[in-house]
Amino acid sequence: MLPLSSLPRSLLPALADLHMAIMPTLLADLGSEVVLRYFENAAGNNLVIAFVATDDRQPTEILGYVLGSPDPSALYSKLRQPLGWFLGQVLKIVLRRPTILIQLAHSVLSSPPANQMQPGQLELTYIGVHPSARGKGVGGQLIHTFAEAARRAGYTSLVLSVETDNPAAIALYEKVGFVIRETFQEGAYHRHRMACSLAQTNP
Ligand SMILES: CC(C)(COP(=O)(O)OP(=O)(O)OC[C@H]1O[C@@H](n2cnc3c(N)ncnc32)[C@H](O)[C@@H]1OP(=O)(O)O)[C@@H](O)C(=O)NCCC(=O)NCCS
Repeated sequence: MLPLSSLPRSLLPALADLHMAIMPTLLADLGSEVVLRYFENAAGNNLVIAFVATDDRQPTEILGYVLGSPDPSALYSKLRQPLGWFLGQVLKIVLRRPTILIQLAHSVLSSPPANQMQPGQLELTYIGVHPSARGKGVGGQLIHTFAEAARRAGYTSLVLSVETDNPAAIALYEKVGFVIRETFQEGAYHRHRMACSLAQTNP
């Protein structure tokens, strides 16, 4: 398990590809160049806590990743710089899928109160495991490594949003000690906001 900041830059495209393949949210809808830029920005941001699990026998194979921040919206805002580049990416996607404009407008104009961060909180923004590596404890290891790093960095709780129709992720989160605090609609997504005190993370 490597911190994202130590992952060789040459592996960032593979990480972005894995994200695109398994995380069907607005970020992935914006296309591979935007997703790659997101991970490049995250790797250079010292507020981000993120780890990548690689295969011991083939260290260039990415098995899974976890990424979080106390200010997740800053990572999305940074994608808009330089603005010309970002608008070009959006235009490419809009020409292929005009309905994405509705989702984009929703995400820019509305920020559900459930997503607002409190002092001492770290958001677990993304966690994902390659389909061929699931059910073997990789997700559990990633989340424990993430929680331990968050505790060491002085955070008191973790928060996250998860689609209500994602039983595998919800079971993983509940096993670690997350509880559902709120259920809400965010654009096209029906989500739970879950929280976990770092004093009570289950081993
Ligand atoms: C959710 C995810 C990260 C779990 O990764 P994983 O490596 O398969 O998880 P683990 O093998 O470490 O399992 C840990 C625990 O999670 C729960 N869990 C994992 N997969 C599950 C499934 N398919 N059904 C029910 N519970 C499941 C179990 O409680 C499991 O503990 P157990 O094995 O003792 O029963 C993985 O399924 C994934 O990448 N899903 C797609 C991306 C995603 O939805 N991410 C979350 C977005 S919010």
